[in-house]
Amino acid sequence: MQLKAIVAMSSNRVIGRDGDLPWHLPEDLKSFKRLTLGHPIVMGRKTMESLPGGRPLPKRRNVVVSRTLTEAPEGFDLINDLSEIRSELAGHETVFIIGGAEIFKEMLPECDEFYLTYVFAEYEGDTFLPPFEDDFEMEEIVSETENFEIRRYVKNRRD
Ligand SMILES: NC(=O)c1ccc[n+]([C@@H]2O[C@H](COP(=O)([O-])OP(=O)(O)OC[C@H]3O[C@@H](n4cnc5c(N)ncnc54)[C@H](OP(=O)(O)O)[C@@H]3O)[C@@H](O)[C@H]2O)c1
Repeated sequence: MQLKAIVAMSSNRVIGRDGDLPWHLPEDLKSFKRLTLGHPIVMGRKTMESLPGGRPLPKRRNVVVSRTLTEAPEGFDLINDLSEIRSELAGHETVFIIGGAEIFKEMLPECDEFYLTYVFAEYEGDTFLPPFEDDFEMEEIVSETENFEIRRYVKNRRD
């Protein structure tokens, strides 16, 4: 199984504000959909609550991670212990970790690669992407628009 992360970050490392995204970038959402469609997506409980209407994203197995929930909301699978991701999702070739910061902090080091939408602006926010630069190197810029570029990072090959 390949674990991949996907995240959008501003130039001052912001990824969230008041439980939501600080920006509206439809082109980035399209790319998120294109990359994740058909694969399980794993998210923290707060990110689940930030989805439109609190509903799961279609055509993907939606997995929520929580220590407090005892029952998953409709359309979601629940994992209480992040370390069980690999066994719970065994059989899937690719699994996407989609945030937020708490989940990235624990799971980014476990990922083989990740897609970073780098937004060319500073935003105010309350949620930041933990440091990853020591563990990953940028492999390619997948696409670029006026407002952002999508970078693919891979795990450092050095030991
Ligand atoms: N820009 C982006 O790409 C992006 C992506 C995703 C999210 N976001 C933004 O990020 C913000 C949310 O991020 P966040 O860091 O506050 O919250 P989060 O990571 O989405 O969720 C945190 C919750 O996940 C559960 N959790 C965390 N670690 C766990 C573990 N080891 N085992 C079991 N459960 C665990 C806990 O739920 P319980 O409290 O229920 O136990 C915790 O409260 C929002 O503003 C959202 O819009 C941005």
